[in-house]
Amino acid sequence: MVANRALRSSQVVNIEDLRRLAERRLPKSVFDYLDGGAEAELTLAENCRAFRDVTFRLRGAVAIADCNLKTRVLGHELSFPAMLAPVGYSRLMHPGGEMAVARAAATAGTGYILSTISGHKLEHVKAASQGPVWYQLYSLGGREAAEGALDRARRAGFSVLVITVDTPVAGMRERDPRNGMKELLGTSLFAKSPMSPTSSPIPASWHRFCATGACPTES
Ligand SMILES: Cc1cc2nc3c(=O)[nH]c(=O)nc-3n(C[C@H](O)[C@H](O)[C@H](O)COP(=O)(O)O)c2cc1C
Repeated sequence: MVANRALRSSQVVNIEDLRRLAERRLPKSVFDYLDGGAEAELTLAENCRAFRDVTFRLRGAVAIADCNLKTRVLGHELSFPAMLAPVGYSRLMHPGGEMAVARAAATAGTGYILSTISGHKLEHVKAASQGPVWYQLYSLGGREAAEGALDRARRAGFSVLVITVDTPVAGMRERDPRNGMKELLGTSLFAKSPMSPTSSPIPASWHRFCATGACPTES
């Protein structure tokens, strides 16, 4: 039986296909930032393994009158019980970045949590979405900066504050220093240039990366 699902492309049938596509299109440093984990990636591997342990038990010939995944979370009606989690520097991966993700979440009937480390102005992200958009706080710049950001988020219409507590110190994400991620995210072209791709021709994605996302100056 053919699965009754709308597929946009025969090239993208599952998440692993999307991963391979991203690997081909993104600069290595950006792909590794998204794909990598900390400290030899042991926890990352264990998390993937744990997901594989879960199997769904088929229950055939059971009458289910109301098949409804809708739920309410902190006053917001969601079409299914999952939201899109905050991912810092999303604009590195695509120029639409956080605005596009917020829009896509709303189209799917769910909400989006915007990271403190956003490449688009939080006001623009909120305006891009018809659905719930919450604000995630890292107190990167100290209390005053955090209070300023919260005030802006409240005025822009963010309705819920999400506080991340699992990052008292940043993990050693070993792929990032090898790729010169710190230099690439800085503003110095001098520091950046040795980390640029050396292949010829330089991929179009790299130009886009430099033009739109390499230095997120809007917060
Ligand atoms: C590349 C990347 C960037 C992330 N950035 C943030 C962030 O800025 N703020 C935050 O609270 N969590 C961040 N997270 C954590 C995710 O929001 C999420 O909680 C975590 O990836 C676990 O969900 P998963 O198992 O679906 O990946 C990030 C995760 C990844 C992989």
